[in-house]
Amino acid sequence: MATIIDGKAVSAAVRGEVKAAAARLAQAAHTPGLAVIIVGEDPASQVYVRNKHKACAENGIRSFQYALPADTTQAALLALIETLNNDPAVDGILCQLPLPKHLDEKAVIDAIRPDKDVDAFHPVNTGKIMTGDYAFLPCTPAGIMEMLKRYEIPVAGKRCVVIGRSNIVGKPMALLMINASATVTVCNSRTPDLASITRQADILVSAVGKADFVTADMVKDGAVVIDVGINRHTDGKLCGDVKFDEVASKASYITPVPGGVGPMTITMLLQNTITAAKNHAEAEK
Ligand code: GUN
Repeated sequence: MATIIDGKAVSAAVRGEVKAAAARLAQAAHTPGLAVIIVGEDPASQVYVRNKHKACAENGIRSFQYALPADTTQAALLALIETLNNDPAVDGILCQLPLPKHLDEKAVIDAIRPDKDVDAFHPVNTGKIMTGDYAFLPCTPAGIMEMLKRYEIPVAGKRCVVIGRSNIVGKPMALLMINASATVTVCNSRTPDLASITRQADILVSAVGKADFVTADMVKDGAVVIDVGINRHTDGKLCGDVKFDEVASKASYITPVPGGVGPMTITMLLQNTITAAKNHAEAEK
């Protein structure tokens, strides 16, 4: 039976460090500040944004919330970003995705100043991740690396398989694993005979978005299984991508949903906001 990786406990430990750093910055320079923009009323996004606000408040980070109507124009959104880019109280800017269809997501990401891009979505920051020269770590993959580190699970020399090639999770996850000297395979929905590849994984990361997608026959005995999915079973219960019970009986470590990767993602966002505030304080000297 696998050890269950407790994302809430790891989060609490990292948030303790974040809170101490925020207090030091508030004394020495200014209180770190995070601006969060949400456009429209997508219920899942509203929950995420509320959780981000709560996490800031609990850890000594000022949060500035901008809830804009669904019919906000591209020009109005870009004007808000420009104002936040120039506001010294704002260290980090996050625009919750997905945006309503009439808005150009790429143009919005490109408009955020790279030194305030705490999501690490701007091309300047994705480029830095590519070369291992991190300004900000991408939140979800960084949270996964932090959990592995705190559970003393080695990555160097291991065979890692990532299912999903999104810009938010799959691609940056693969890069962090490559930079940590793993041998990495990235699969997607068109990968032939997926199970033959996932069965080779010492560390299997699933970012698919389908309940019960990863079954025991896809997992090697003793593998570490990281579940990034946030889905709902037909009964409405929250679940990940992994068929938890049967995979847990085969794996050495496994992350649950909820309580695994999810809490870590917001924690790394807080950590990135601290990094941005430190850099801004340094630049002011
Ligand atoms: N939507 C889903 N995940 C994320 C995230 O990490 N950042 C932003 N900005 N939007 C998201």
